[in-house]
Amino acid sequence: GKYRVVSTKSMPGTRWINLLVQQDCRVEICTEKKTILSVEDIIALIGNKCDGVIGQLTEDWGETLFSALSKAGGKAFSNMAVGYNNVDVEAATKYGVAVGNTPGVLTETTAELAASLSLAASRRIVEADGFMRAGLYDGWLPHLLKAYGQFLKASGEQPVTWKRASSMDEVLQVADVISLHPILDKTTYHLINKERLSKMKKEAILINCSRGPVVDEEALVEHLKQNPMFRVGLDVFEDEPYMKPGLADMKNAIVVPHIASASKWTREGMVTLAALNVLDCQFRSSKKGRQFSGVTTMYSFGLCTL
Ligand code: GLV
Ligand code: GLV
Repeated sequence: GKYRVVSTKSMPGTRWINLLVQQDCRVEICTEKKTILSVEDIIALIGNKCDGVIGQLTEDWGETLFSALSKAGGKAFSNMAVGYNNVDVEAATKYGVAVGNTPGVLTETTAELAASLSLAASRRIVEADGFMRAGLYDGWLPHLLKAYGQFLKASGEQPVTWKRASSMDEVLQVADVISLHPILDKTTYHLINKERLSKMKKEAILINCSRGPVVDEEALVEHLKQNPMFRVGLDVFEDEPYMKPGLADMKNAIVVPHIASASKWTREGMVTLAALNVLDCQFRSSKKGRQFSGVTTMYSFGLCTL
């Protein structure tokens, strides 16, 4: 291969490798066992010559790494994620590295987890499972693990399918389930804080499948303690992979390890997009002699035809 492309993790399927190899790339996959690679680890992977990198949301892609990648001749980086709060796009732009993410292929899969968490929270599935396994079930009772809320009132009216709210406060006050899906940036950091939690219904369900810092997790733990009927389903955490003290003890919290996109189809789609991003940014652009204008922001597949 003429071009050297590094993947910081082994990824599912072989299609992405074939796509790269067909375009004269040698693909190198990091076999390091530890889950989160440090900046130093990645600098070592980049080495002296590296044309493109496929990296992960757990990695800190900032000034140091883009400078190293650029020195090694690299022109393309793709996160294997739709979120890119771990990527300093300005720094990438400064060093002439195009950045890609993997939107689209995980939308339904993420929505499915959000729906699963809200149903599981509403019907206390995880708590009930623990109850069974602990040998506590000694016979059916009318109040045993009664679900707290009810999604639809039995009024005979047609359920409202969707409605646009005029403000976030309105949503917070009326919603039975609130599912968070913003990107994480300065404007969404601690979007859900103590004050906003206090505006929500006492029996509401809050779901977060976006990024942990969108929710003030300490305030959330306090809110869960004060409001036993309030329930939360979390796929992401403020200090991921850790949970804030007390969260793991809350029965009204369901916690899962960042698995919203974890279906076979979606993960293969993500890695395929990541490979195509690297190819588009590195090779198509260089063939056409594309110059970076300095205002390059995010690329996604399909937007990257230059
Ligand atoms: C996962 O969290 C992603 O951003 O793809
Ligand atoms: C519950 O199991 C019922 O039959 O109502």
